[in-house]
Amino acid sequence: MRAVVQGGSGYAGGELLRLLAGHPGIEVTQVSSERLRGKPVAAVHPQLRDRSDLRFCGREDLEPADVVFSALRHGESAPRIAETLALAPLVVDLSADFRLHDATDYPRWYGWEHPCPELLPGFTSGLAELHREQIASSDRLAIGGCVATAGVLALAPFVRAGLVDPDMPIVVDALIGSSAAGSEPTPTSHHPHRSGAMHSFAPTGHRHTAEVLQELRALGTVGEVALSVTSVEAVRGILVTAHLWLSEPLEEREIWRVLRTATATEPFLRVVKQAHGLHRHPDPRLVTGTNFCDLGFSRDPHSRRLVVTAAIDNLVKGAAGQAIQAANIRLGFAETAGLELGGIYPL
Ligand SMILES: NC(=O)c1ccc[n+]([C@@H]2O[C@H](COP(=O)([O-])OP(=O)(O)OC[C@H]3O[C@@H](n4cnc5c(N)ncnc54)[C@H](OP(=O)(O)O)[C@@H]3O)[C@@H](O)[C@H]2O)c1
Repeated sequence: MRAVVQGGSGYAGGELLRLLAGHPGIEVTQVSSERLRGKPVAAVHPQLRDRSDLRFCGREDLEPADVVFSALRHGESAPRIAETLALAPLVVDLSADFRLHDATDYPRWYGWEHPCPELLPGFTSGLAELHREQIASSDRLAIGGCVATAGVLALAPFVRAGLVDPDMPIVVDALIGSSAAGSEPTPTSHHPHRSGAMHSFAPTGHRHTAEVLQELRALGTVGEVALSVTSVEAVRGILVTAHLWLSEPLEEREIWRVLRTATATEPFLRVVKQAHGLHRHPDPRLVTGTNFCDLGFSRDPHSRRLVVTAAIDNLVKGAAGQAIQAANIRLGFAETAGLELGGIYPL
């Protein structure tokens, strides 16, 4: 199948190209970038040296294909959606522009009115672990945000099983690397500011709160969700530490059972919980470059608090890998096609 990548000069675009270069059934025929039109893709994505001989083209030069992956910056995808939809029968959008079902969430969380709210119901969330059946028959997929993806995957098994006390808040504390902010330099990404960072990026009010709430409320009854995001010294990776209060006290083996049930048939979810050794808990470094989401937990012996941790690579399971997994489901490929890379260690 032929794929075009729109907005391919960014980090998510680069990861789409890296992963699709190893896909057995999808060939990328064109990649767009307004800034870099005419330049070889390997000039900005050095990981593609000798893996791709494509050059960036303008968006107006994109020709119809079987699938379009759109990795434009958020807020830039919605105004161009008519052209994007005309490019291919399957549109996979990595931006935030079609993730939220309620148009009033956009001014509230993103600060802009949605230009085409009538299109929101036509998009299906692209997180396979929650929406596999809908994805299989949807032509418009909205890929989840990176922080939201890690938070939702950590909490979904317990919300789905009806084990969360809705009278208590769920606290989601996320540590993020610098690539989550995209490739465009900003004052906060400037090396003297970013190096060695342990920087409270969004103690409250992070945009992905809306998405976590939306996805969890579709699974069960949840109360308030309190999300905080802290930037740390890393390029890739998200580590979420989610605190929830169980509606009833549970033994450790019962918690294991919930997670085993949630992950047993999932190709990219793994439970990581070892009693001894260096690698007892999920660690974003150990999933770098892969589509895995590692889940772990710890039960507070003194209360009904359960701490669930999740580690992902923000650019893979949090963006390009999630997009390819969803496209695989829709297009009838093996769900793991192009995503079979394991991690590397040590890193
Ligand atoms: N980074 C992550 O961890 C992550 C995770 C999940 C989802 N996402 C989402 O995926 C998308 C791409 O993320 P990214 O990290 O790759 O971002 P990025 O590095 O900033 O790249 C954004 C792309 O958008 C285009 N762009 C930038 N400004 C534009 C404008 N004013 N008008 C039109 N196009 C513009 C750029 O194309 P030109 O070359 O033409 O300028 C570039 O190809 C974003 O919507 C982001 O929210 C990112």
